[in-house]
Amino acid sequence: LPGKKHVCSSSKRHHGTLMAEEAKKLAAYAAVDNHIQNNQVVGVGSGSTIVYAVDRLAERVRQEKLNIARQLILQHGLPLSDLDRHPELDVAIDGADEVDAALTLIKGGGGCLTQEKIVAGCAKHFIVIADYRKDSKALGQQWKKGVPVEVIPMAYVPVSRAIARRFGGEAVLRMAVSKAGPVVTDNNNFILDWKFEHAQNWKEVNTAIKMIPGVVETGLFVGMAERVYFGMEDGSVKTR
Ligand code: 5RP
Repeated sequence: LPGKKHVCSSSKRHHGTLMAEEAKKLAAYAAVDNHIQNNQVVGVGSGSTIVYAVDRLAERVRQEKLNIARQLILQHGLPLSDLDRHPELDVAIDGADEVDAALTLIKGGGGCLTQEKIVAGCAKHFIVIADYRKDSKALGQQWKKGVPVEVIPMAYVPVSRAIARRFGGEAVLRMAVSKAGPVVTDNNNFILDWKFEHAQNWKEVNTAIKMIPGVVETGLFVGMAERVYFGMEDGSVKTR
């Protein structure tokens, strides 16, 4: 709940600082317990923070009757649904790479952004969970890797040039860790990481980038998140 602090009694502290993993768990558990109710259809995204939300959902599903979309659920043996059967979700929960003061998000650091934006867009309430490192006054202060943009493979060069020409900075093709080739998304596309030089009107930029032929989606989530839960270093949960 806004402004409410949930204090953690965990012993997983490192020199008085709550480790990021524990902070992710705190945020995830608080968000699930505050926003998910019995018999709701819930969408989840991907990443390391959402795993804790699914853990908590799994606990709750054993006692209650929740339907959950997305693949991770399979690992828990939970009932899996999809947007064909449930085009309208009660709640979607997801992580983020950076969250600014206006609840604009950068997502896609892990390579998934289009499907996550679709799921978020189908939800009546979109709730974000993150550890304290993602909390930012202005985009670019925390996540230094830029805004991911999913592109049709044949268009990555013209899209990269168009973004740089219009908005400055540099849009670089994301390569696999092995450097053997580009990262390929869950939709068989490529990702450009646009390293912007200065703050922008993110709503306008998001719309303009999406208009470039070959762009599938951007990792800018503008006006979508309803509430964000940050697990903090001191064991509290901060909401925005
Ligand atoms: C995947 C995402 C993730 O939600 C985002 O990268 C946050 O991940 P994590 O919870 O591991 O920090 O957008 O592309």
